[in-house]
Amino acid sequence: MKILVTGGAGFIGSHTLIELHNAGHEVVVIDNLCNSNPKSLERVSAICGAVIPFMQVDIRDRKGLEEVFSQFTFDACIHFAGLKAVGESVAKPLEYYENNISGTLVLLDVMREHGCKNIIFSSSATVYGNPAQIPITEECPKGHCTNPYGQTKSMLEQIMMDMQAADPEWNVVLLRYFNPIGAHPSGRIGENPNGIPNNLMPYITQVAVGKRPELGVFGNDYDTPDGTGVRDYIHVVDLARGHVSALKAIERKCGLAIYNLGTGHGYSVLDIVHAFERVNGVPVPYAIKPRRPGDIATCYSDPAKAERELGWKAEYGIDEMCRDSWNWQKNNPNGYEG
Ligand code: NAD
Ligand code: UD1
Repeated sequence: MKILVTGGAGFIGSHTLIELHNAGHEVVVIDNLCNSNPKSLERVSAICGAVIPFMQVDIRDRKGLEEVFSQFTFDACIHFAGLKAVGESVAKPLEYYENNISGTLVLLDVMREHGCKNIIFSSSATVYGNPAQIPITEECPKGHCTNPYGQTKSMLEQIMMDMQAADPEWNVVLLRYFNPIGAHPSGRIGENPNGIPNNLMPYITQVAVGKRPELGVFGNDYDTPDGTGVRDYIHVVDLARGHVSALKAIERKCGLAIYNLGTGHGYSVLDIVHAFERVNGVPVPYAIKPRRPGDIATCYSDPAKAERELGWKAEYGIDEMCRDSWNWQKNNPNGYEG
C-alpha cells in the first residue's frame, strides 16, 4: 500500500517506517520536526537501503497538506503527529488542543477531499484513565483523563468514531499503545527526548550513561507487589509491527476497529531497574520519591483482540527492551546530535 506517515521522524514513527518498508509498503513522511530530528529519517533510509520521501509540513497547514496530496495518492494514513508531554500539556493546554485537535481536523478534512478514507491513529492507554478492570480489554469504558494530552487522545478517538459513523466509507483503526520502550536493534534510531525525560526508560538510560545522578522512583506505597507502579512495557519494534498488522483491518474494510497494543505483562518500576542492571551490567542508582500526581498503581493490557483479529503479538520481552534501550543510549549519548 502507499501510506502517508504523519510524525514519521519521531520515536514510534521512525521505527514504523522500517517495518512498513520491510513489509513492502511505500511511504511518504510529513513532519514539522517540532520534536524530532531529520537525522532519524537519514538513518531509517540507511537501514532500509532506500530513500524515504519526506516533506516538512505541519498538519495544521492546509495548503501544505494539499500540496502533499496533489503530489501523491495514498491508500491510507498512519497518524503519529502530535504533542505528547503530559506535564507540558497541563501548562500549555491551548497549544496541545490546537496542535493535536485542530491539526487532526485539518488532516482528516484534506484526506476526505482527496478520497483517502483510511486512517490508523496513535491513541494511548491513557484513555482508560484509572481502569475499571485489569488486564484492560478494549471493552473497558474510557475513564477520566487527568491532563489535556490524554484529553486530546480521548477527544480525537470520539471525533473519528463520529466521522466513521456518519460516513461508513471511512475505515478508522484506533491503536491504544501501552508503554513503548526499547529501540531498533541496530542502535541507530531510538527515543530522543528534549530536556529532562518524563518517562521511565529514557530517565534510566540517562542515569546509566552518567548524565543524571539517580532515578527518582515515584512512590513505593502503591497496592502492587513491591509498592511501585506497574505498567505494560512494549518493545517499540513490536509496536511498529502492530501498525503493519493494523493495515489488515483497513484491507478488510473494518469500519471502526480498536486495539490495545501491549504485551499483557505488568512490570513494576523496580522490576525494570533490576532487569536493566542485570541485562546490561550497569548500575542504576535510585531514590524513592513521593508519588507523581495523576499516576495510577497498575495498568496492563489484555492484548488478545489484536492477536485474534490481526494475527499480531508482541515478540520481545523485557530483556530485549532493556538491551536495545541501552544500546541506543550508549551509542548515541546525545541522541541524534552526536
Ligand atoms: P514523538 O514526539 O517522537 O513523535 C511525534 C512526531 O510528530 C514528532 O516528530 C513531531 O515533530 C511531530 N509533530 C508534532 N506536531 C506536529 C504537527 N503539528 N505537524 C507535523 N508534525 C508534528 O512521539 P512518539 O513517541 O513517536 O509518539 C507518536 C504518537 O504516539 C503521538 O501521537 C503520541 O501521542 C502517541 N503515543 C505515544 C506514546 C509514547 O509513550 N511514546 C504512548 C501513547 C501514544
Ligand atoms: C505516561 C503518561 C501517559 C502517556 C505515557 C506514554 C503520565 C501520568 N502518564 O504514562 O499519559 O500516554 O506516558 O508515554 O505521565 N516513573 C518513575 N520515575 C520516573 C519516571 C517514571 O518512577 O522518573 C514511574 C511512574 O511513576 C510510572 C512508571 O514509572 O509508575 C512509568 O512512567 P512513564 O514512563 O512516565 O509512563 P506512564 O506514567 O505509564
